[in-house]
Amino acid sequence: MTDATPVLRLSGAGHRFGSHEALRALDLTVHAGERVAVLGTSGAGKSTLLALLNGSLEPTTGTLEVFGENPARLPAARRRLLQQRIGSVSQHLALIEQVRVLHNVNAGRLSQWSTPRALASLVWPRSLDVVRDALDRVDLGWALHERTERLSGGERQRVAIARLLVQSPDLVVADEPVSSLDPVRAAGILGLLGTGTAVRTLVVSLHQPALAREHCTRVVGLRHGEIVLDSPAADVSDAALHQLYTLT
Ligand SMILES: Nc1ncnc2c1ncn2[C@@H]1O[C@H](COP(=O)(O)OP(=O)(O)OP(=O)(O)O)[C@@H](O)[C@H]1O
Ligand SMILES: [Mg+2]
Repeated sequence: MTDATPVLRLSGAGHRFGSHEALRALDLTVHAGERVAVLGTSGAGKSTLLALLNGSLEPTTGTLEVFGENPARLPAARRRLLQQRIGSVSQHLALIEQVRVLHNVNAGRLSQWSTPRALASLVWPRSLDVVRDALDRVDLGWALHERTERLSGGERQRVAIARLLVQSPDLVVADEPVSSLDPVRAAGILGLLGTGTAVRTLVVSLHQPALAREHCTRVVGLRHGEIVLDSPAADVSDAALHQLYTLT
């Protein structure tokens, strides 16, 4: 991969659930350092698109390249290495309810650890300073030893963000990561997601266009599984947003 190799390239990539075509032949290229907001009405295909990008779904038509490689064609070991470079926050958070918050945060590094090391960390938590620092950054320092199931929706969303911060990925794919947060916290979290030590690329689905304009460099609008808007965030007009959200 050279500096010019896109982080993501979809070529005619679509996804079908049985007879339902959730995404139709999308062409989309994302370069390093871009912060892309994915907008669209409920059911437009945002989660399906993000699931393709983070490797949890495969396109049923067309191709996807991530950091210049097609994950579907990679041997398992190379695919795991590629997966480590991608940090994901799913709409359903994928937290383990019954364990303490610190274990959910440490899960961000499980793929970088050997199995014995990962299992041992459940009894003797590793690198608590790193976990504590990540929780502090999402304003949850007090929750280190709390049981995850007792946290509120917004607090759980921030645990998922802390897990991603300890993973420190090159590409962040986040599906409505701030949907349960108040406006000030939402802005803070989007700021954290878009900044890292290296050049970080962000693809984030949002239901708040104002956050997209403020925190992202580019807006991609989906409607019925198609890209109907792709524009620098600064150029997205109110009229274009109105059209995107008009239900027809
Ligand atoms: N596992 C599935 N099986 C069948 N259909 C699905 C499945 N997942 C999603 N769909 C359908 O695909 C379409 C796109 O769904 P998707 O979850 O990507 O929408 P979305 O834009 O993320 O919506 P929301 O804003 O409500 O999260 C919807 O019509 C949905 O019903
Ligand atoms: Mg969704």
